[in-house]
Amino acid sequence: MTAIFITATGADVGTTFVVAALVRHLRQVGRPVDAIKPIANGYDPAQAASSETGVLVSALGLPFTPESIERVSPWRFRAALPPDLAARHEGRSIDVDEVIAYCRTEIGKRRGVLLIDGIGGVMAPLDDRRTTLDVMMALRLPLILVTGSYASAVSHSLTALDSLFRRDMNVLATIVSETPGSNVGFDDVVASIGRFATPVIGLPRWRT
Ligand SMILES: Nc1ncnc2c1ncn2[C@@H]1O[C@H](COP(=O)(O)OP(=O)(O)O)[C@@H](O)[C@H]1O
Ligand SMILES: [Mg+2]
Repeated sequence: MTAIFITATGADVGTTFVVAALVRHLRQVGRPVDAIKPIANGYDPAQAASSETGVLVSALGLPFTPESIERVSPWRFRAALPPDLAARHEGRSIDVDEVIAYCRTEIGKRRGVLLIDGIGGVMAPLDDRRTTLDVMMALRLPLILVTGSYASAVSHSLTALDSLFRRDMNVLATIVSETPGSNVGFDDVVASIGRFATPVIGLPRWRT
């Protein structure tokens, strides 16, 4: 039983979608699973159910209460901006040591798999000095990198992987979540990343 940190090449590529899908899958096969997304930006309390935190609360099958929202995402900011700017927007700042401590507490409490939905891109600034990468380096969990299939996704993925490998981080897999309307073929992006790094998993756009 493990904890996995899910990072990304940037916002909106499908990280929370992947975490929610993994949560649902593990629940379906009867594995105990938990998920947190410690920092939620773009969080509108009036639209809590459709927020990324809400998506995780519902994937976990938790009651939709202030307590479950607070437990999944203790740091919530309204602005859909990078975390440091979203915090500054409301006169707040993020104490990165507290974020790391929160993750460690949740890692220690886990009964099964804990998935940590990781706060934007690999180097999303959290305060004036530190980025998501500093949280990943402090926790040293195995990682999953999520990217899209937009034109620059190959370069962004290889840059992200390079910065993780240089720090001896354990990257379990790269997941390519199909970007709608991309001018590059989905299979081509998956194959390109796969020529440089393995394993790569392609996640086609799921159509409802
Ligand atoms: N493979 C996919 N199939 C269908 N919808 C997806 C897929 N990946 C992402 N989405 C949708 O795209 C939007 C952005 O994804 P999200 O996971 O919230 O991005 P991120 O967490 O990277 O910011 C959400 O509405 C999500 O449901
Ligand atoms: Mg997300």
